[in-house]
Amino acid sequence: MKTDASGLLTLAIETSCDDTAAAVLCGRHVIANGVASQLLDAKFGGVVPELASRQHMRHIIPVIRRTIQQAGVELKDIHQIAATYGPGLVGSLLVGLNTAQSLAYGLNIPIIPVNHVESHMLAVFLETETVEWPAVALVVSGGHTLLSEVEGIGRYRLAGETQDDAAGECFDKVARALGLMKSAEQTMGGPLIEKRAQNGNPDAFAFPRPMLRSNDVHFSFSGLKTALIQFISSHTEDFIRERMPDICASFQEAVVDVLVEKAMRACLRSGARSLILSGGVAANKRLTVKAAAAALALSIRMVAPSKKFCTDNAAMTGITAVLRGTPGIKGPGRIGPRPNLRLEDACEV
Ligand code: KG4
Ligand code: ZN
Repeated sequence: MKTDASGLLTLAIETSCDDTAAAVLCGRHVIANGVASQLLDAKFGGVVPELASRQHMRHIIPVIRRTIQQAGVELKDIHQIAATYGPGLVGSLLVGLNTAQSLAYGLNIPIIPVNHVESHMLAVFLETETVEWPAVALVVSGGHTLLSEVEGIGRYRLAGETQDDAAGECFDKVARALGLMKSAEQTMGGPLIEKRAQNGNPDAFAFPRPMLRSNDVHFSFSGLKTALIQFISSHTEDFIRERMPDICASFQEAVVDVLVEKAMRACLRSGARSLILSGGVAANKRLTVKAAAAALALSIRMVAPSKKFCTDNAAMTGITAVLRGTPGIKGPGRIGPRPNLRLEDACEV
Protein backbone atom coordinates (compact mmCIF):
# COMPACT_ATOMS: atom_id res chain seq x y z
CA MET A 1 0.00 0.00 0.00
CA LYS A 2 1.37 3.40 -1.05
CA THR A 3 0.91 5.62 1.98
CA ASP A 4 1.40 9.29 2.71
CA ALA A 5 3.33 10.97 5.48
CA SER A 6 0.18 12.56 6.86
CA GLY A 7 -1.43 9.10 7.22
CA LEU A 8 -4.87 10.73 7.15
CA LEU A 9 -7.38 8.19 5.83
CA THR A 10 -10.23 9.71 3.82
CA LEU A 11 -13.25 7.76 2.59
CA ALA A 12 -14.74 9.61 -0.39
CA ILE A 13 -18.24 9.12 -1.81
CA GLU A 14 -19.50 10.49 -5.14
CA THR A 15 -23.07 10.02 -6.43
CA SER A 16 -23.82 13.26 -8.28
CA CYS A 17 -25.19 11.63 -11.44
CA ASP A 18 -25.37 7.96 -12.43
CA ASP A 19 -22.10 6.47 -11.12
CA THR A 20 -21.92 5.19 -7.56
CA ALA A 21 -18.29 5.76 -6.58
CA ALA A 22 -16.18 5.37 -3.45
CA ALA A 23 -12.46 5.80 -2.82
CA VAL A 24 -10.01 5.58 0.05
CA LEU A 25 -7.07 7.98 0.18
CA CYS A 26 -4.12 7.97 2.54
CA GLY A 27 -3.09 11.60 2.61
CA ARG A 28 -3.01 12.51 -1.10
CA HIS A 29 -2.54 8.95 -2.34
CA VAL A 30 -5.41 6.89 -3.68
CA ILE A 31 -5.28 3.39 -2.21
CA ALA A 32 -8.61 2.15 -3.59
CA ASN A 33 -11.02 3.53 -6.15
CA GLY A 34 -14.32 1.75 -6.84
CA VAL A 35 -17.28 2.51 -9.06
CA ALA A 36 -20.56 0.94 -10.10
CA SER A 37 -21.96 2.38 -13.34
CA GLN A 38 -25.63 2.19 -14.13
CA LEU A 39 -26.66 0.02 -17.01
CA LEU A 40 -30.15 1.50 -17.23
CA ASP A 41 -29.15 4.68 -19.07
CA ALA A 42 -28.90 3.11 -22.53
CA LYS A 43 -32.26 1.34 -22.17
CA PHE A 44 -34.07 4.58 -21.36
CA GLY A 45 -32.09 6.90 -23.65
CA GLY A 46 -30.30 8.72 -20.85
CA VAL A 47 -30.25 9.14 -17.11
CA VAL A 48 -33.68 8.84 -15.44
CA PRO A 49 -33.27 10.68 -12.10
CA GLU A 50 -35.68 8.52 -10.07
CA LEU A 51 -34.15 5.29 -11.38
CA ALA A 52 -30.63 6.65 -10.84
CA SER A 53 -31.28 7.28 -7.14
CA ARG A 54 -32.79 3.81 -6.70
CA GLN A 55 -29.71 2.28 -8.32
CA HIS A 56 -27.46 4.34 -6.03
CA MET A 57 -29.35 2.92 -3.03
CA ARG A 58 -28.74 -0.59 -4.33
CA HIS A 59 -25.04 -0.03 -5.06
CA ILE A 60 -23.75 2.33 -2.40
CA ILE A 61 -23.12 -0.03 0.52
CA PRO A 62 -21.54 -2.81 -1.64
CA VAL A 63 -19.32 -0.26 -3.41
CA ILE A 64 -18.14 1.25 -0.11
CA ARG A 65 -17.59 -2.19 1.42
CA ARG A 66 -15.61 -3.40 -1.61
CA THR A 67 -13.49 -0.24 -1.75
CA ILE A 68 -12.68 -0.37 1.96
CA GLN A 69 -11.68 -4.03 1.55
CA GLN A 70 -9.49 -3.27 -1.48
CA ALA A 71 -7.79 -0.52 0.51
CA GLY A 72 -6.92 -3.10 3.18
CA VAL A 73 -8.40 -0.96 5.95
CA GLU A 74 -11.48 -1.11 8.16
CA LEU A 75 -14.21 1.49 8.58
CA LYS A 76 -13.05 2.23 12.11
CA ASP A 77 -9.63 3.29 10.70
CA ILE A 78 -11.14 6.13 8.59
CA HIS A 79 -10.43 9.65 9.86
CA GLN A 80 -12.80 11.71 7.67
CA ILE A 81 -15.45 11.31 4.98
CA ALA A 82 -15.64 13.46 1.85
CA ALA A 83 -18.93 13.50 -0.07
CA THR A 84 -20.21 15.36 -3.13
CA TYR A 85 -23.04 17.72 -2.11
CA GLY A 86 -23.60 19.41 -5.51
CA PRO A 87 -24.11 20.14 -8.31
CA GLY A 88 -26.01 17.12 -9.57
CA LEU A 89 -29.30 15.27 -9.44
CA VAL A 90 -30.95 15.90 -6.09
CA GLY A 91 -32.05 12.28 -5.50
CA SER A 92 -28.61 10.93 -6.45
CA LEU A 93 -26.80 13.45 -4.24
CA LEU A 94 -29.11 12.60 -1.34
CA VAL A 95 -28.17 8.91 -1.37
CA GLY A 96 -24.41 9.56 -1.22
CA LEU A 97 -24.70 12.43 1.22
CA ASN A 98 -27.05 10.62 3.62
CA THR A 99 -24.88 7.51 3.58
CA ALA A 100 -21.79 9.64 4.23
CA GLN A 101 -23.47 11.54 7.06
CA SER A 102 -24.77 8.38 8.71
CA LEU A 103 -21.33 6.76 8.56
CA ALA A 104 -19.60 9.90 9.83
CA TYR A 105 -22.07 10.21 12.72
CA GLY A 106 -21.73 6.53 13.62
CA LEU A 107 -17.93 6.71 13.53
CA ASN A 108 -17.85 10.15 15.20
CA ILE A 109 -15.66 11.59 12.44
CA PRO A 110 -16.08 14.78 10.37
CA ILE A 111 -17.67 14.99 6.95
CA ILE A 112 -16.37 17.34 4.28
CA PRO A 113 -18.86 18.50 1.62
CA VAL A 114 -17.26 18.64 -1.84
CA ASN A 115 -18.22 20.66 -4.93
CA HIS A 116 -18.34 18.24 -7.88
CA VAL A 117 -17.12 20.72 -10.51
CA GLU A 118 -14.20 21.75 -8.31
CA SER A 119 -13.38 18.07 -7.83
CA HIS A 120 -13.21 17.51 -11.62
CA MET A 121 -10.75 20.40 -11.77
CA LEU A 122 -8.60 19.28 -8.85
CA ALA A 123 -8.47 15.68 -10.15
CA VAL A 124 -5.17 16.69 -11.80
CA PHE A 125 -3.59 16.68 -8.33
CA LEU A 126 -4.11 12.93 -8.08
CA GLU A 127 -1.13 12.60 -10.43
CA THR A 128 0.55 16.03 -10.36
CA GLU A 129 2.23 17.57 -7.33
CA THR A 130 1.91 21.21 -8.39
CA VAL A 131 0.32 23.44 -11.01
CA GLU A 132 1.82 26.80 -11.92
CA TRP A 133 -0.68 29.54 -11.12
CA PRO A 134 -2.50 31.42 -12.50
CA ALA A 135 -4.26 28.76 -14.51
CA VAL A 136 -7.35 28.41 -16.63
CA ALA A 137 -9.49 25.32 -16.10
CA LEU A 138 -11.64 23.87 -18.85
CA VAL A 139 -14.12 21.52 -17.17
CA VAL A 140 -15.94 19.62 -19.86
CA SER A 141 -18.26 16.77 -18.96
CA GLY A 142 -21.74 15.40 -19.53
CA GLY A 143 -23.29 17.99 -17.24
CA HIS A 144 -20.86 20.92 -17.45
CA THR A 145 -18.81 22.91 -19.91
CA LEU A 146 -17.09 25.89 -18.36
CA LEU A 147 -13.90 27.90 -18.27
CA SER A 148 -12.64 29.21 -14.98
CA GLU A 149 -9.71 31.44 -14.12
CA VAL A 150 -7.87 29.85 -11.21
CA GLU A 151 -5.52 31.83 -8.96
CA GLY A 152 -4.96 28.83 -6.69
CA ILE A 153 -6.91 26.15 -4.86
CA GLY A 154 -10.20 27.68 -3.72
CA ARG A 155 -9.70 30.84 -5.80
CA TYR A 156 -11.89 30.64 -8.87
CA ARG A 157 -13.59 33.10 -11.22
CA LEU A 158 -16.00 31.86 -13.86
CA ALA A 159 -14.91 33.12 -17.30
CA GLY A 160 -17.38 31.36 -19.59
CA GLU A 161 -19.84 28.49 -19.72
CA THR A 162 -22.24 26.75 -22.05
CA GLN A 163 -25.44 28.61 -22.78
CA ASP A 164 -27.31 25.36 -23.44
CA ASP A 165 -26.01 21.75 -23.75
CA ALA A 166 -22.75 20.51 -22.28
CA ALA A 167 -20.19 19.15 -24.76
CA GLY A 168 -20.46 15.61 -23.31
CA GLU A 169 -24.24 15.72 -23.60
CA CYS A 170 -23.77 16.68 -27.28
CA PHE A 171 -21.48 13.65 -27.81
CA ASP A 172 -24.09 11.43 -26.12
CA LYS A 173 -27.07 12.73 -28.12
CA VAL A 174 -25.21 12.55 -31.44
CA ALA A 175 -24.00 9.00 -30.67
CA ARG A 176 -27.57 8.01 -29.96
CA ALA A 177 -28.84 9.64 -33.18
CA LEU A 178 -26.12 7.77 -35.11
CA GLY A 179 -27.36 4.50 -33.59
CA LEU A 180 -24.08 3.83 -31.80
CA MET A 181 -25.51 3.28 -28.30
CA LYS A 182 -26.90 -0.19 -28.80
CA SER A 183 -26.30 -2.25 -25.70
CA ALA A 184 -26.94 -1.53 -22.05
CA GLU A 185 -23.18 -1.36 -21.43
CA GLN A 186 -22.84 1.60 -23.79
CA THR A 187 -23.85 4.45 -21.51
CA MET A 188 -21.42 7.11 -22.81
CA GLY A 189 -21.49 8.37 -26.39
CA GLY A 190 -18.08 10.10 -26.34
CA PRO A 191 -15.88 6.99 -26.40
CA LEU A 192 -18.06 5.40 -29.13
CA ILE A 193 -17.68 8.45 -31.38
CA GLU A 194 -13.95 8.70 -30.62
CA LYS A 195 -13.44 5.05 -31.61
CA ARG A 196 -15.19 5.51 -35.01
CA ALA A 197 -13.39 8.83 -35.56
CA GLN A 198 -9.97 7.13 -35.46
CA ASN A 199 -10.45 5.89 -39.04
CA GLY A 200 -12.21 9.00 -40.31
CA ASN A 201 -11.33 12.26 -42.02
CA PRO A 202 -11.97 15.24 -39.72
CA ASP A 203 -12.37 17.53 -42.76
CA ALA A 204 -14.89 15.35 -44.58
CA PHE A 205 -17.92 17.37 -43.48
CA ALA A 206 -18.00 21.03 -42.42
CA PHE A 207 -20.16 20.93 -39.30
CA PRO A 208 -20.74 24.26 -37.49
CA ARG A 209 -18.31 25.58 -34.87
CA PRO A 210 -20.85 27.32 -32.61
CA MET A 211 -19.96 30.75 -31.19
CA LEU A 212 -16.39 30.52 -32.45
CA ARG A 213 -16.59 33.96 -33.98
CA SER A 214 -18.04 35.66 -30.91
CA ASN A 215 -15.43 37.39 -28.80
CA ASP A 216 -16.38 35.89 -25.45
CA VAL A 217 -15.44 32.53 -23.96
CA HIS A 218 -18.95 31.11 -23.65
CA PHE A 219 -20.07 27.97 -25.47
CA SER A 220 -23.19 26.62 -27.18
CA PHE A 221 -23.56 23.05 -28.38
CA SER A 222 -27.29 22.63 -29.07
CA GLY A 223 -26.95 24.07 -32.62
CA LEU A 224 -24.22 21.57 -33.47
CA LYS A 225 -26.35 18.75 -32.08
CA THR A 226 -29.33 19.89 -34.20
CA ALA A 227 -27.10 20.20 -37.29
CA LEU A 228 -25.99 16.58 -36.84
CA ILE A 229 -29.54 15.33 -36.26
CA GLN A 230 -30.67 17.12 -39.45
CA PHE A 231 -27.67 15.76 -41.36
CA ILE A 232 -28.53 12.22 -40.25
CA SER A 233 -32.22 12.51 -41.16
CA SER A 234 -31.42 13.96 -44.61
CA HIS A 235 -29.17 11.01 -45.61
CA THR A 236 -29.92 7.33 -46.15
CA GLU A 237 -29.06 4.72 -43.52
CA ASP A 238 -26.54 3.17 -45.93
CA PHE A 239 -24.76 6.50 -46.41
CA ILE A 240 -24.58 7.08 -42.64
CA ARG A 241 -23.23 3.56 -42.08
CA GLU A 242 -20.61 3.81 -44.84
CA ARG A 243 -19.43 7.27 -43.85
CA MET A 244 -19.64 6.70 -40.08
CA PRO A 245 -15.89 7.24 -39.44
CA ASP A 246 -15.90 10.53 -41.42
CA ILE A 247 -19.08 11.79 -39.73
CA CYS A 248 -17.69 10.97 -36.26
CA ALA A 249 -14.28 12.50 -37.01
CA SER A 250 -15.83 15.69 -38.46
CA PHE A 251 -18.25 16.07 -35.55
CA GLN A 252 -15.52 15.43 -32.96
CA GLU A 253 -13.29 17.98 -34.72
CA ALA A 254 -16.01 20.65 -34.52
CA VAL A 255 -16.39 20.15 -30.74
CA VAL A 256 -12.63 20.01 -30.17
CA ASP A 257 -11.95 23.13 -32.27
CA VAL A 258 -14.43 25.20 -30.25
CA LEU A 259 -13.18 23.91 -26.88
CA VAL A 260 -9.50 24.48 -27.73
CA GLU A 261 -10.01 27.91 -29.31
CA LYS A 262 -12.06 29.22 -26.38
CA ALA A 263 -9.67 27.74 -23.82
CA MET A 264 -6.71 29.45 -25.50
CA ARG A 265 -8.62 32.73 -25.65
CA ALA A 266 -9.33 32.48 -21.90
CA CYS A 267 -5.65 31.70 -21.20
CA LEU A 268 -4.41 34.68 -23.23
CA ARG A 269 -6.91 37.02 -21.62
CA SER A 270 -5.97 36.09 -18.07
CA GLY A 271 -2.23 35.53 -18.60
CA ALA A 272 -2.51 31.90 -17.48
CA ARG A 273 0.67 29.83 -17.11
CA SER A 274 -1.22 26.51 -17.05
CA LEU A 275 -4.29 25.01 -18.63
CA ILE A 276 -6.15 22.40 -16.58
CA LEU A 277 -8.26 20.16 -18.81
CA SER A 278 -10.71 17.93 -16.94
CA GLY A 279 -14.11 16.23 -16.88
CA GLY A 280 -15.34 13.21 -18.84
CA VAL A 281 -14.71 14.74 -22.29
CA ALA A 282 -11.06 15.31 -21.34
CA ALA A 283 -10.71 11.52 -21.82
CA ASN A 284 -10.85 12.32 -25.57
CA LYS A 285 -7.41 11.91 -27.14
CA ARG A 286 -8.02 14.31 -30.02
CA LEU A 287 -8.99 17.02 -27.50
CA THR A 288 -5.95 16.50 -25.28
CA VAL A 289 -3.56 16.34 -28.25
CA LYS A 290 -4.92 19.51 -29.88
CA ALA A 291 -5.18 21.40 -26.58
CA ALA A 292 -1.62 20.41 -25.62
CA ALA A 293 -0.28 21.58 -29.01
CA ALA A 294 -2.15 24.89 -28.81
CA ALA A 295 -1.00 25.44 -25.21
CA LEU A 296 2.62 24.63 -26.12
CA ALA A 297 2.54 27.24 -28.90
CA LEU A 298 1.67 29.83 -26.23
CA SER A 299 4.22 28.44 -23.71
CA ILE A 300 1.40 27.30 -21.45
CA ARG A 301 1.68 23.97 -19.62
CA MET A 302 -1.35 21.76 -20.08
CA VAL A 303 -2.27 19.32 -17.31
CA ALA A 304 -5.02 16.72 -17.55
CA PRO A 305 -5.93 13.73 -15.38
CA SER A 306 -5.41 10.27 -16.83
CA LYS A 307 -8.53 8.73 -18.39
CA LYS A 308 -9.75 6.92 -15.27
CA PHE A 309 -9.83 10.18 -13.31
CA CYS A 310 -11.57 12.21 -16.09
CA THR A 311 -15.00 10.59 -15.83
CA ASP A 312 -16.87 10.63 -12.51
CA ASN A 313 -14.91 8.99 -9.70
CA ALA A 314 -14.58 9.40 -5.94
CA ALA A 315 -10.78 9.73 -5.88
CA MET A 316 -11.18 13.31 -7.13
CA THR A 317 -13.76 13.95 -4.40
CA GLY A 318 -11.25 12.76 -1.82
CA ILE A 319 -8.29 14.76 -3.14
CA THR A 320 -10.44 17.91 -3.20
CA ALA A 321 -11.29 17.49 0.49
CA VAL A 322 -7.63 16.82 1.33
CA LEU A 323 -6.33 19.82 -0.65
CA ARG A 324 -8.93 22.20 0.73
CA GLY A 325 -7.87 21.10 4.19
CA THR A 326 -11.11 22.24 5.79
CA PRO A 327 -11.73 20.62 9.17
CA GLY A 328 -15.12 19.18 8.21
CA ILE A 329 -18.41 19.10 10.05
CA LYS A 330 -19.42 16.79 12.88
CA GLY A 331 -22.93 15.92 14.03
CA PRO A 332 -26.07 14.48 12.47
CA GLY A 333 -27.64 15.59 9.15
CA ARG A 334 -26.10 19.06 8.88
CA ILE A 335 -25.42 19.12 5.12
CA GLY A 336 -28.15 19.21 2.47
CA PRO A 337 -27.75 18.50 -1.26
CA ARG A 338 -27.17 21.54 -3.50
CA PRO A 339 -28.27 20.48 -7.03
CA ASN A 340 -27.44 23.89 -8.54
CA LEU A 341 -24.19 24.55 -6.71
CA ARG A 342 -21.81 26.72 -8.77
CA LEU A 343 -18.03 26.52 -8.95
CA GLU A 344 -17.76 30.00 -7.40
CA ASP A 345 -19.61 28.67 -4.33
CA ALA A 346 -16.51 26.55 -3.68
CA CYS A 347 -14.68 29.78 -2.85
CA GLU A 348 -16.94 30.27 0.19
CA VAL A 349 -16.26 26.89 1.84
O1 KG4 B 1 -17.44 13.64 -15.96
P1 KG4 B 1 -18.47 12.68 -16.42
O2 KG4 B 1 -18.25 11.23 -16.09
O3 KG4 B 1 -19.89 13.01 -15.86
C1 KG4 B 1 -20.38 14.29 -15.62
O4 KG4 B 1 -20.03 14.91 -14.56
O5 KG4 B 1 -21.15 14.75 -16.48
O6 KG4 B 1 -18.59 12.88 -17.99
C2 KG4 B 1 -19.32 12.01 -18.78
C3 KG4 B 1 -19.34 12.58 -20.19
C4 KG4 B 1 -20.29 11.84 -21.11
O7 KG4 B 1 -21.09 12.78 -21.79
C5 KG4 B 1 -19.35 11.11 -22.04
O8 KG4 B 1 -19.89 10.87 -23.34
C6 KG4 B 1 -18.16 12.03 -22.09
O9 KG4 B 1 -18.03 12.51 -20.77
N1 KG4 B 1 -16.94 11.30 -22.49
C7 KG4 B 1 -16.28 11.54 -23.64
C8 KG4 B 1 -15.23 10.58 -23.68
N2 KG4 B 1 -15.27 9.83 -22.54
C9 KG4 B 1 -16.33 10.28 -21.82
N3 KG4 B 1 -16.48 12.43 -24.62
C10 KG4 B 1 -15.64 12.40 -25.67
N4 KG4 B 1 -14.62 11.52 -25.80
C11 KG4 B 1 -14.38 10.59 -24.83
N5 KG4 B 1 -13.38 9.72 -24.97
ZN1 ZN C 1 -18.86 14.82 -13.28
